[in-house]
Amino acid sequence: MLMTGGSGFLGQHLGIASEADDWQLVAPPSTMIDIRNRERVLEEFCSWRPTAIVHLAYRKGDRTAIVEGSRNVAEAASACGARLVHVSSDAIFPGRPEPYREYDAPFPITDYGVMKLEAERAVLAECPDAVIVRTSLLYGTRRPAKIQLDVDRAILGHQPMTFFTDEYRCPAHAAGPAPWRDVPIAERPAIRRAG
Ligand SMILES: NC(=O)c1ccc[n+]([C@@H]2O[C@H](COP(=O)([O-])OP(=O)(O)OC[C@H]3O[C@@H](n4cnc5c(N)ncnc54)[C@H](OP(=O)(O)O)[C@@H]3O)[C@@H](O)[C@H]2O)c1
Repeated sequence: MLMTGGSGFLGQHLGIASEADDWQLVAPPSTMIDIRNRERVLEEFCSWRPTAIVHLAYRKGDRTAIVEGSRNVAEAASACGARLVHVSSDAIFPGRPEPYREYDAPFPITDYGVMKLEAERAVLAECPDAVIVRTSLLYGTRRPAKIQLDVDRAILGHQPMTFFTDEYRCPAHAAGPAPWRDVPIAERPAIRRAG
């Protein structure tokens, strides 16, 4: 399995989970493969010939990394015949009292949500059988998420923090949605909700 974004918050949790699942993992750092570099992604990914690619890499606010990087990864997955699992976000929805389902129409209201939706569309254009996992807010134990650190600092009185009063989130543990467990390398519905 090839994992992009393996050094990140989610990648560190999923990397451990992959060992338990007996996958051989290749997780190149961004200094080795920048997903914005289409030629390099195509060349390197195809030379490794992975069975599955789990695409986590993203950079906050960097549309090229989020959208074009995802497109490049999807093109490479198609070119080398790997099953692609693309990690998206529930931020493609605006929020409502009842849970969303896979077939609900996306309508992002944040820049991040807009980019993640563009990324999903780019991925499906290049790789129609990709699995898209739309996960909710994640928390970690191997490494705390930024939101956990912010709450810690607020509780210790080191910084103020403002919370939403009009939304409920359903945080999931970062090792919980290990996408390849739920999604064996076989025929699967294209879009799945996690968390
Ligand atoms: N965390 C959450 O609560 C949450 C919730 C829903 C969805 N997601 C999605 O889950 C995925 C992973 O999120 P995360 O929280 O783990 O993010 P993160 O901690 O910020 O990690 C991002 C990873 O992407 C890599 N990266 C950034 N730019 C790159 C580039 N141009 N080329 C190659 N690699 C690059 C980073 O590598 P370096 O740092 O080494 O450069 C790092 O390994 C994202 O797609 C995010 O949208 C996260």
